[in-house]
Amino acid sequence: MHTFIDHYNNEVILSFQDHPFSKNPKHVWVICRYEDKWLLTSHSRRGLEFPGGKVEHGEEAKDAAIREVKEETGGNVHSITYIGQYKVSGKGKTIIKNIYYAIIDQLVKQEDYLETNGPVLLSALPANVTNDPRFSFIMKDEVLTYSLEYIRKSFA
Ligand code: GTP
Repeated sequence: MHTFIDHYNNEVILSFQDHPFSKNPKHVWVICRYEDKWLLTSHSRRGLEFPGGKVEHGEEAKDAAIREVKEETGGNVHSITYIGQYKVSGKGKTIIKNIYYAIIDQLVKQEDYLETNGPVLLSALPANVTNDPRFSFIMKDEVLTYSLEYIRKSFA
């Protein structure tokens, strides 16, 4: 377990165990790889981030992850693996989010990308995402750092 404070001063607990906080989390976040690049979305308010969002009523979290990738980037998920889960304790609200690692095999142009401006491909993430105003707050805490390290070790 890793505990830290996020960009908004909320406490975050991150774990790479099997669903430690909830078997049915309401949020998902998907670290996507397309060819030899990272696939992100450009959120119209928050900026660049890996795709994700809320699990719909009656939907499985993994299906929500696949749906969000398609809606926000046009990415077709070839394979997807659960890697961890985190809990953010905000003012009055606590959210639990599953983290997935997905391999994308096709980018299909969408009519619209909901609240995002669609796909953004990056060969590398900048060393200092935290101080880079192009990036969303959800990319600005240790969830990203630890998850990338976990992926590097597990999928090398
Ligand atoms: P609505 O319920 O649709 O109004 O959504 P919301 O804007 O309240 O956001 P949501 O329920 O998705 O998340 C609630 C709060 O949790 C946000 O305002 C953030 O502070 C925090 N949060 C959500 N996702 C993340 C995340 O990936 N990382 C971090 N650090 N905080 C998050």
